[in-house]
Amino acid sequence: MFAWTRRLTVIAATALLASGAALAQAPIVIKFSHVVANDTPKGKAADFFAKRAGELTGGKVKVEVYANSTLYKDKEEMEALQLGAVQMLAPSLAKFGPLGVKEFEVFDLPFIFDNYDELHKVTQGAVGKQLLGKLEGRGLKGLAFWDNGFKSFSANKPLKTLDDFKGQKLRIQSSKVLEAQMRALGALPQVMAFSEVYQALQTGVVDGTENPHSNLFTQKMHEVQKHVTLSDHGYLGYAVITNKKFWDGLPADVRAQVEQAMAESTAYANRIAKEENQQALEKVKASGKSQINALSVAERQAMKRAMVKVHQDMASRIGQDVINAVYKETGFDPANP
Ligand code: LMR
Repeated sequence: MFAWTRRLTVIAATALLASGAALAQAPIVIKFSHVVANDTPKGKAADFFAKRAGELTGGKVKVEVYANSTLYKDKEEMEALQLGAVQMLAPSLAKFGPLGVKEFEVFDLPFIFDNYDELHKVTQGAVGKQLLGKLEGRGLKGLAFWDNGFKSFSANKPLKTLDDFKGQKLRIQSSKVLEAQMRALGALPQVMAFSEVYQALQTGVVDGTENPHSNLFTQKMHEVQKHVTLSDHGYLGYAVITNKKFWDGLPADVRAQVEQAMAESTAYANRIAKEENQQALEKVKASGKSQINALSVAERQAMKRAMVKVHQDMASRIGQDVINAVYKETGFDPANP
C-alpha cells in the first residue's frame, strides 16, 4: 500500500515537472490575420515574418498566419486585435478612419504620390513615424508600413472619362477620402469588406472597383470585370499593427528579436511589391478575361483635375498639417498638380 502511494507520488511529481517544462517552453503565439491571398505582397511578407520571427527567437515565438479573411473580415479583425483575440494585422491605410485615426487617409488622396520613391520618403521617414504614433491612443502599436501598389479602375466598361464614371456603382474601402474621390468622378461609392467584393462584382451588386493588380488578380476579380483601366490614380498600402498591451508585455529580448524580424520583413515587402504587381498585370493580360485600357495624356490629366480637388475638400478631416507634411516630402504642388 505504502509502496503504491509512493509510486503515485513519484508519477505525479514527474508529470508536474514535465508539464512545467512544457509550459516553460510553450511558444508565445502571434496570430497574424489578413484579408488577402498568400500570393500577394502582404501575404508573402506575413509568411516571411512568420519564418524570421521563429528563427530569430529560436522558436520562442510562433507566428500563425491566417490569410484571405479565413479568421476575420476587415472590420472584425480590427475589433479582434483590440480585444486581444489576434496579435497582429496589416490593414490597408484606408481602413483606419472607423478607428478614429483619420490622418492615415492622407495616403488615399488621389495622385498624391507619383511613384514608390516619393511614397517611401513618407512611409520610411519622420512623417511615417509620426503617423504610426497616432495609433498609441487606440490601444495599438504601429510597427511598420508595407507596400502594395498603385490602383487601376475596373468595371464592365472602360473608365476613362467623367462620362464613363457617371452613375457607376464602385466598391471602396472604408475611407471618406475614397468616397469623396468616387463622388468627384460622378460615381456612386459603396463601402464593402474585401472578402465580399468578388461576389458583388459577379452578381452586379456593384459595377466596378479599384485595386492594385495583385489584389485584382489573386481574387480573380478580372474574371468578372470586362475592363481594367491603367490609371495609377492612388496608392494602397498597409500599416502593420499589434496590440499595445501584448507588445509591451513581451520579454525585452524577444521583443527586440521580433522587431528585427519585422524590419527584415518590411525590407522584403517593399522590395517585392512593385514586381508582384507587374507580374499580376501580366497574368491578367494573359488570361484574356479583361481588356486592359491605357489612358491618353489628356484623359489622365482630365481625371487628375477632377480628383485633385478632393485634397482640399478633405483637409479638415485629415488635417492640413498632415497633408502639407506629405507634400513637403514628395514635392506635390497643389497649385500645379
Ligand atoms: C481592400 O479592401 O481592397 C484592400 O484593403 C485589401 C488589402 O488588404 O489589400
